[in-house]
Amino acid sequence: MITPDTVSKIFETARIDEVVGEFVKLKRRGVNLVGLCPFHDEKTPSFSVSPARGIYKCFGCGKGGNAVNFLMEHEHYTYPEALQYLAKKYNIEIEEKQLTEEDQKEQSEKEALFLLSSFAQKYFHEALIQSEEGKSVGLSYFKERGYNKETIIKFGLGYCPGKWDEFTNYALKNGYKRDHLLKTSLSKSKDHQLYDTFRGRVIFPIHNLSGRVLGFGARTLSADPKKPKYINSAESEIYHKSKILYGIYFAKSSIISNDNCYITEGYTDVISLHQAGIENVVASSGTSLTVDQIRLIRRYTNNITLLFDGDPAGVKAAFRGIDLILEQGLNIKLVLFPQGEDPDSYSRNNRPADVLDFVNKNANDFISFKTNLLLEETGDDPVKKAGLIKEIASTIALVPDNIARTLYIQRCSELMNIEEKWLFAEINKTRRQKFQKEKMKKSAEEQEMVETTFSDEKHEVDLQASESPEFKEKELVRIMLAYGNKEIMLDAVNEDNRPVTVPYNVLKILVEDIESENLEFETPVCRKIFEELKTTYYDQLEVSEQHFFNHDDENVRQLAIELLTSKYNLSANWENKQKIYVSSEEDNLKKIVFEVLYNFKLLKLDKMIYENQEKLKKEKDNEKIIDYIKVDKDLKEKRSHFANELSRVVLK
Ligand code: UTP
Ligand code: MN
Repeated sequence: MITPDTVSKIFETARIDEVVGEFVKLKRRGVNLVGLCPFHDEKTPSFSVSPARGIYKCFGCGKGGNAVNFLMEHEHYTYPEALQYLAKKYNIEIEEKQLTEEDQKEQSEKEALFLLSSFAQKYFHEALIQSEEGKSVGLSYFKERGYNKETIIKFGLGYCPGKWDEFTNYALKNGYKRDHLLKTSLSKSKDHQLYDTFRGRVIFPIHNLSGRVLGFGARTLSADPKKPKYINSAESEIYHKSKILYGIYFAKSSIISNDNCYITEGYTDVISLHQAGIENVVASSGTSLTVDQIRLIRRYTNNITLLFDGDPAGVKAAFRGIDLILEQGLNIKLVLFPQGEDPDSYSRNNRPADVLDFVNKNANDFISFKTNLLLEETGDDPVKKAGLIKEIASTIALVPDNIARTLYIQRCSELMNIEEKWLFAEINKTRRQKFQKEKMKKSAEEQEMVETTFSDEKHEVDLQASESPEFKEKELVRIMLAYGNKEIMLDAVNEDNRPVTVPYNVLKILVEDIESENLEFETPVCRKIFEELKTTYYDQLEVSEQHFFNHDDENVRQLAIELLTSKYNLSANWENKQKIYVSSEEDNLKKIVFEVLYNFKLLKLDKMIYENQEKLKKEKDNEKIIDYIKVDKDLKEKRSHFANELSRVVLK
């Protein structure tokens, strides 16, 4: 277990913008940073990061928290893992207490698979570099492919010995479980005997965004055409091939700085391009490009360049990729390598500077790419040419942005020598058909609702919510958290009985008032926060936002973040609206403090009146009935007093 001292050191040092910035492309906006939310699908940024407060918050999906929460949510780290990650990032030495047996048992299944994958990667890498067999078979193969030592180390390449079960036995001996070996597809089972899946192959480990190994690709060294060239890890709890891109961990910072991502076909292309100095490159190895993979890239850039071999299969794959990328609203360029070459071979046969030069010179937009390729087939045949125009129009129709679509239409009109208006007509027809189809998929009614009543409906819900007891309690908690340290001027009299105004601390006013009347919060999370605020007040401490943002209790933390960030700012303009709102709220602080307090009191009085009346209804004893009636009268008087006060405060 990590000691509390280390934990607080980590919390103090970690910078939310730096931590989130590793995974999300952030742009500065005012005092905050914004980006596309990594937790839900969106095209305009509603994900905001506040370096000053050490938190992130998405106004779209509502997710929010501190640096550790981000890592747990985004990387599926456990709490200690997230701390370890941060400690490593900021060079903080971790002081640890021994893990108990129970702690160990608690390690999740996923974590076990990650640990095993990392163990295997190290084993394969050492086998490549140190064992005789690895050196003579695996290492010499990589050297032949032109990989230098640096590259081999950077990508953690490896070799799995050719003996039947050498790795499996070693893993079992080291305490790794049979079940986990099978789940990660590192081992297979035959007649209850385990053997190495990747035996005799060179190994390409696959890393997730934060550099943890989650799977492997393994290439055969034999020329036997009956043996599969590559064996890749099967899907597992940690490895989902449609959601990961090979090389993304090594590419992400270069993707951000170049504002472009190259996509290639496989492991070897990525590695060779890296060695040639092009680092913003990933591969969709083993599958055709998926929507999830495109979204992964979209966190870092809106620009994708597809690099493909000049063979028919490569072209076909490129065509599929184009539509998918455009549909996600990204920009795309394409580079076709000369017949018989792929990015890997081209990088090996040319000098690094020439590789970059080739890629830059041959990057085409998709219209010229498709046109050039297809025009070769169609020649001057007007019927075929019409077919080609339809084909290109159907792709343009996928572009979600109106302006981008118009620009593509202009480009196509020039290239194909056809009037723009025909293209517009064709494309609009396609888009109408597309919408029709989508509409039919959902039910017609449902669609109507989403389009026409969404905003009104939301408004109504908000109004109702603002009347609820829970809302009123949260408002009171919000005022204490946000303004507890502030002072407001109240009327008083001095020793000479003269009217004066004196400053009062907001937390003092609220805590003392609530305490003196024995009022209680009903909402558990509000009650918990209030208990802590009471301690803060009695210990004469300041209210600390950070204390609640980093609170152990998930509910407390979430509510604190919700209350201190999201009020009146559901749009991406967090900081602006927040600033305006906050400043006006501060100007009116006195009014707001009492408005919220009286609302809370009325709420409690209503409840007491109701409970008293219930007792009254059931009571048979005359004397007690008289007592209850008296209580009822007192409560109602009090209620009317506070209702008057409230209207005075609100109307002032
Ligand atoms: P290649 O067939 O070019 O692989 O496929 P290679 O290892 O570079 O082989 P040679 O030396 O050119 O003959 C390119 C990429 O496609 C993926 C791999 O990522 C490979 O790097 N691939 C290929 C697979 O995932 N599975 C396969 O069966 C083949
Ligand atoms: Mn190849």
